[in-house]
Amino acid sequence: MVDFSKQEIIDILQDNSKNEWLFSLADKVRKENVGEDVHLRGLIEFSNICKRTCKYCGLRCENKNIDRYRITPEDIIFYAGKAADMGYKTVVLQSGEDSFFTKDVMCEIIKEIKKNDIALTLSIGERTFEEYKEFKDCGADRYLIRIETTDRNLYSKMHPNMDFDNRIRCLKDLKKLGYETGTGCLVGLPGQTVESLANDILFFKEIDADMVGIGPFISHPDTPLKGESNGDFTLALKVMALTRIMLPDINIPATTAMETLNPNGRIIALQSGANVVMPNVTTTEFRQKYEIYPGKICINENPDKCRGCIESKIKSIGRTISNEYGISRHYQ
Ligand code: SAM
Ligand code: SF4
Ligand code: FES
Repeated sequence: MVDFSKQEIIDILQDNSKNEWLFSLADKVRKENVGEDVHLRGLIEFSNICKRTCKYCGLRCENKNIDRYRITPEDIIFYAGKAADMGYKTVVLQSGEDSFFTKDVMCEIIKEIKKNDIALTLSIGERTFEEYKEFKDCGADRYLIRIETTDRNLYSKMHPNMDFDNRIRCLKDLKKLGYETGTGCLVGLPGQTVESLANDILFFKEIDADMVGIGPFISHPDTPLKGESNGDFTLALKVMALTRIMLPDINIPATTAMETLNPNGRIIALQSGANVVMPNVTTTEFRQKYEIYPGKICINENPDKCRGCIESKIKSIGRTISNEYGISRHYQ
């Protein structure tokens, strides 16, 4: 296994002359460790209501220029069932931090969804140990919560009234409870250094992440970061490739934000270390409103169209669509 030092990671991130070598090494490591299968996770964005004020995100509560929605628990359960009928083996429930979805409401949703033959991932932000435990007891399998950046100073600038240590506590609790735990970072936040990106990669290893999602920062005009430059696609791809090399057997998604910056971004990511795609299965009516950043792909499409579209793209590069749950190799 290749194990780069922090200085080696920094050097690779700063030097663009060896990018082809890096991407093909990551592709080789991906193939040897997790194979040719691509796991599709059906993503339901069920509420854009959020109590937080993350400076980069269009869902932050101070953004008054957004039409808020919340899908009812009954409809969330219905859409998850439809995703299972479409052949998805995992459904991901994602939202802002919406207080309507209390522990009890979430537990009911989880129990109902788990009556289908699918794995269930939650991505609903910071909760207490007890809440994470109950969600797990009700059947939730996985949890995604990005650290966003491991640079404490930058973290506190980007996340007013949030606590870096609590974010770490969440990740540790999730691991302790036996969740397949996903984390990740944004690449290109204003003020972010290459050294801090190297620390992010080392952090993923240190906490033994089961899944890592890397996305370029995309500037949203209705946030305090309006007018800032977007993150760089190639740099985000390099952070992702290094993550694959350093954590060979984890799940790595080709993120929607990558495709937003590059029309072929997800396929390029799948050829540079990624092995997961999360097609949107939210009904078209709500897609435009889940505007975490502008230019998000697929906002006028429907779930069937996205499934067909991504399947044919994946097959066109000779990869296969998995029929399995795509459980992290750490738990097999
Ligand atoms: N509220 C939950 C949370 O924050 O963990 C889940 C939903 S949140 C919208 C999902 C992810 O969107 C965040 O982890 C963040 O990295 C990403 N995101 C938010 N704003 C973004 C932006 N402007 N550019 C790129 N990614 C962004
Ligand atoms: Fe809310 Fe998540 Fe956006 Fe932060 S990143 S404002 S917690 S939806
Ligand atoms: Fe949605 Fe291609 S994945 S249209």
